[in-house]
Amino acid sequence: MVAHIKTVAFLGVDAVSVDVQVHLAPGHNAFTVVGLPDKSVAESRERVRAALSAMGLALPYERITINLSPADLPKEGSHYDLPIALGLLVAMGGLTHEQVEPFVVMGELALDGACTPVPGALPAAMAALENKCGLICPAACGPEAAWSGLAHPDQPGIIAGSSLLQIVNHLRGTHLISPPEVALEQPTADALDMADIRGQGETRMALEVAAAGGHNLLMNGPPGAGKSMLASRLPGILPSLTPRERLEISLIESLGAQRGGVRLAHQRPFRAPHHSASMAALVGGGRHARPGEISLAHNGVLFLDELPEFPRQALDALRQPIETGAVSLARAEVHISYQARFQLVAAMNPCRCGYAEDPDLACHRLPICRQEYIGRLSGPLLDRFDVRVNVPPVPLSEMMGSEKGEASPAIAARVSEARAAQMGRQNCLNAHLDGEALYKFAAPDSAGQNLLDRIADTKKLSARGFNRILRVARTLADLDHRDTPSAENIAPAIRWRDITF
Ligand SMILES: Nc1ncnc2c1ncn2[C@@H]1O[C@H](COP(=O)(O)OP(=O)(O)O)[C@@H](O)[C@H]1O
Ligand SMILES: [Mg+2]
Ligand SMILES: [Zn+2]
Repeated sequence: MVAHIKTVAFLGVDAVSVDVQVHLAPGHNAFTVVGLPDKSVAESRERVRAALSAMGLALPYERITINLSPADLPKEGSHYDLPIALGLLVAMGGLTHEQVEPFVVMGELALDGACTPVPGALPAAMAALENKCGLICPAACGPEAAWSGLAHPDQPGIIAGSSLLQIVNHLRGTHLISPPEVALEQPTADALDMADIRGQGETRMALEVAAAGGHNLLMNGPPGAGKSMLASRLPGILPSLTPRERLEISLIESLGAQRGGVRLAHQRPFRAPHHSASMAALVGGGRHARPGEISLAHNGVLFLDELPEFPRQALDALRQPIETGAVSLARAEVHISYQARFQLVAAMNPCRCGYAEDPDLACHRLPICRQEYIGRLSGPLLDRFDVRVNVPPVPLSEMMGSEKGEASPAIAARVSEARAAQMGRQNCLNAHLDGEALYKFAAPDSAGQNLLDRIADTKKLSARGFNRILRVARTLADLDHRDTPSAENIAPAIRWRDITF
């Protein structure tokens, strides 16, 4: 007899159905797992054997074959333990086929039979829901799985057990596990407020424009000028998440978590990976094809502090996701892709040591210190930043003064309005306007055009530089409720065309 248990394999955020087939045959004592298991799946045998023996059950002295079907789909991760264990229990007669049939099963087992949380409970629960199944998962994954809406009374629901024994007792009806609570959302109260920022009028305006038009932003300034502080306040002035965006973020978080227990997205993510982060950590992939920082920043902000310190290879890897909003990772047998539509904010110091412009702590290695540092940024990467702004240090008098900056909610309201205008006019944000559409929707009025013509002559604008100015001016005009960008809208866009090195 072959016992069948349903589980899933993850291809990006898609949970693909996998059938775990357990076959017992008389013969030599053996225990094999086939169907493209990776190392962690193969090790499942030892954990399952120990977990069953913790329940007082020995594996039968027979030839045990586990097939993970379809056989050509690579199987990664430790979540196959629980389906294999339940499949063995069915094959051994400890459970009936009817008891397990309505469920998708996922979870890792500890040697003592405890269920260990695994990534991916949310996409697994959504796949179960789609197939009109329930979900059996570790207790710690229950709240996250419940967010899918699977706990609905008409459905087989979610069985989130803390041990194999507990799950078996539930299925047999001897001791029921109560359904999991839905995961709590992250509180909104911890949003950082723009009111905390003193002075920095120009940079505040640049940040608002970046938020309103979806422009990538590069800030250049000495250490302590407030660049990190400003960047971290961007999510707080972006529009609140739509239900669809929330789900997209939660699915990625569910797979990115090492050990389940994800708190579901309420705010736009703000991810600030260190420049020493590995490529796999940054763009995704690695042994288990987890989403990287750029995907965890999906629908939110990716902040790269000290941009020139990032390895060239890492920065190059960002270019494709910036264009397409997704990253595709090559695996042994398949290509998987994660969404990665983030707004990029980067900061840099004026030179490697940071003191190129500081009169007291003046850099001792100018101009080499500056050139070496800035030389690490490639032209194509710099091209991705529509808004580039110099962030001077705030004078002490202003820092100590009592005057607070404008609070985030007021700025967020303007940003939302400007974004709505863009979507209504051209169905995309200004940052994504290019070519024909850009010249059609961002054509300035005559005074603006005159200013542009003058600049194009004196500053030798490249076509790309010209386009960046138009995009940013279009956003400034949207914030001003203007139909066409004026000279007043063009001027800051010209100023933010380049940082002064
Ligand atoms: N404009 C500002 N308003 C209020 N505090 C500031 C400002 N700029 C800097 N600070 C203070 O200085 C600290 C360092 O700022 P930070 O954002 O880390 O600077 P940077 O990233 O430019 O090196 C902040 O934590 C904050 O306390
Ligand atoms: Mg900083
Ligand atoms: Zn220096």
